[in-house]
Amino acid sequence: MKKIWITGAEGHIGSALIDLLDCMEYHILATDINEVDITDLEEVQQYMRVNRPDVVINCASLTDVEYCATHRDEAYKVNAIGVRNIALAANEVRAKVIQMSTDDVFDLESDVPYNEFDATHPKTIYGKSKEAGEKFLTQLLNRFVIIRSSWIYGIGRDFVDDVLGNVGKLDVMKVPNNRYAVPTSAKELAKVIAYFIDNDAFGLYHVVCQGSCSRYEFAKAILEYAGKAGQMEIHPILSKDDLRPAYSVLDNMMMRLTGMEEPKEWKAALKEYLDETGGQE
Ligand SMILES: NC(=O)c1ccc[n+]([C@@H]2O[C@H](COP(=O)([O-])OP(=O)(O)OC[C@H]3O[C@@H](n4cnc5c(N)ncnc54)[C@H](OP(=O)(O)O)[C@@H]3O)[C@@H](O)[C@H]2O)c1
Repeated sequence: MKKIWITGAEGHIGSALIDLLDCMEYHILATDINEVDITDLEEVQQYMRVNRPDVVINCASLTDVEYCATHRDEAYKVNAIGVRNIALAANEVRAKVIQMSTDDVFDLESDVPYNEFDATHPKTIYGKSKEAGEKFLTQLLNRFVIIRSSWIYGIGRDFVDDVLGNVGKLDVMKVPNNRYAVPTSAKELAKVIAYFIDNDAFGLYHVVCQGSCSRYEFAKAILEYAGKAGQMEIHPILSKDDLRPAYSVLDNMMMRLTGMEEPKEWKAALKEYLDETGGQE
């Protein structure tokens, strides 16, 4: 049975992956900052040497974009140096590292989907520090996978919960119609991660459901597939922060080129998620 170390295990993605991968016959080791602080190289090395995982899935990160903007050093320490530490320690035990990354490494100004061969150009400290983490991994390890994804749900409190939580409380929910990306279910993401655990595939991959939409279209689909379309109106607005469209649609080009099975189309994955859970994962 393969030993999988998940860092950031109490976060949204980390905890969802523990649930989803646990049923797939892996031996899961889960830590968050109280057990192993990824900014402490010695702590990371010590844990790695004692436990000798086959694969590390690094979900530990500072993800609050506004917090990162005002805490630059801390953002780079976790999102870049933390990744460097994991890479250095993984080298010693020949562990494969699967690093979670983000569409925020792009400038969001395109109008065609970004693929893995497009140049990155992050605008925020969060995006810049995540890009720096990606670079450390590519410089220090051969046995790595970087996964960039977007708008992941099925991870505890998320956008699906926000929309459904407003039903019965609001008559109208205002949602930006000028932000575009790809909603991606944690279940579809976990299937791809399981593939990377079990196969000799390495490198940079975009992993999102197929298609794309605006936040407004996403919210409408959530209500429709939850059978609550008549119970609240979704009203399109222009987001105050981004009067220009913010476009961060990812294209799973590497998955296609290497013959991997892509995640489902976003509406099909959302419908399946709501049918299975009613929005309560
Ligand atoms: N959620 C999404 O839709 C999404 C989309 C694309 C990519 N991602 C990527 O997925 C990864 C996980 O995201 P998430 O949404 O799960 O974030 P999250 O909920 O903020 O989880 C991150 C976890 O890492 C922990 N952490 C922070 N500093 C640490 C340290 N020094 N050592 C160990 N653990 C530390 C956090 O603890 P505290 O809470 O105590 O800080 C938290 O438990 C990130 O790399 C993110 O870029 C997420």
